[in-house]
Amino acid sequence: MNLPQHVRLVEVGPRDGLQNEAQPIAVADKVRLVDDLSAAGLSYIEVGSFVSPKWVPQMAGSAEVFADITAHPGVTYAALTPNLKGLEAAIEAGVKEVAVFAAASEAFSQRNLNCSIGESLARFAPVMELARQHGIQVRGYVSCVLGCPYEGQVAPQAVAQVGRELYAMGCYEVSLGDTIGTGTAGATRALFEAVGREVPRERLAGHFHDTYGQALSNLYAGLLEGISVFDSSVAGLGGCPYAKGATGNVASEDVLYLLDGLGIHTGIDLDRLIAAGQRICDVLGRANGSRVARARLAARG
Ligand code: HMG
Ligand code: MG
Repeated sequence: MNLPQHVRLVEVGPRDGLQNEAQPIAVADKVRLVDDLSAAGLSYIEVGSFVSPKWVPQMAGSAEVFADITAHPGVTYAALTPNLKGLEAAIEAGVKEVAVFAAASEAFSQRNLNCSIGESLARFAPVMELARQHGIQVRGYVSCVLGCPYEGQVAPQAVAQVGRELYAMGCYEVSLGDTIGTGTAGATRALFEAVGREVPRERLAGHFHDTYGQALSNLYAGLLEGISVFDSSVAGLGGCPYAKGATGNVASEDVLYLLDGLGIHTGIDLDRLIAAGQRICDVLGRANGSRVARARLAARG
């Protein structure tokens, strides 16, 4: 079994996790979450989004969050930017890395970005150019890679095409998002095989929502395909406002437990990660979505 020796976890809890919360969350609580995650040893944290506050009200305070976090050396703090306006706001807030996001299904693209896939890619071109001028690295997302809430099945070829375009326009990494968490391990392997023909595997990442409880096995399927970057959310927080019923990402604690068990190095401290997740769950009044965290906390009594 040839698994990667190192895995980079992209912690999306403060963004993907919190974007879906209806209740207001104080900037100080968001900042505390990011600081706790930095202290736990995460090397990449998606802090927020510079999107329309009418579309995703919870991310409206992202500039303030960026202003108040304590940046740890060697940690990347990133934000989503769907268009030039978003990137300009991110630059103003001192953000050093951003992500653009497209979809593999037309219907989801319309709901999430109010435009077609082609229009979204065209919109990203000036974003890439401005980012380049500012020395900002851009990550790319493709949503609905293993199913769409509006169109159902999505062909791996459709994902590969969008992934190839994002990579060609300069995204240094393309994260494949199972937005609605319906994918299974076999489909995940086939997906990475198809997209891996267009984008080098070391430039691909997996982003698995856990709606159907398959995220951890899909992630393992990704490891078997040689993928070594995965997005996860502390305490399994999250969902997508434009994918009704979709639950959070695979829990970072559960992924870390899996990777620790495989002897794969991440540099993350599980106990501190569990504490970070439980703290934000207490703030939100939510049950902890990490099985590992629940077990460890219950065992402590
Ligand atoms: P639109 O309505 O077509 O945009 O939305 P517009 O250009 O016509 O502008 C409309 C209004 O929005 C204007 O304000 C603009 O100024 C403002 P008004 O004149 O009405 O007062 N506006 C902005 N404000 C702040 N920041 C901006 C911005 N852009 C325009 N950047 C738009 C198009 C892209 C803006 C909208 O559709 C949007 O914000 N979408 C974001 C949706 C989103 O954040 N979804 C969740 C993240 S993606 C995700 O979760 C999936 C992922 O996790 C992977 C996976 O799981 O699959 C990444
Ligand atoms: Mg997501």
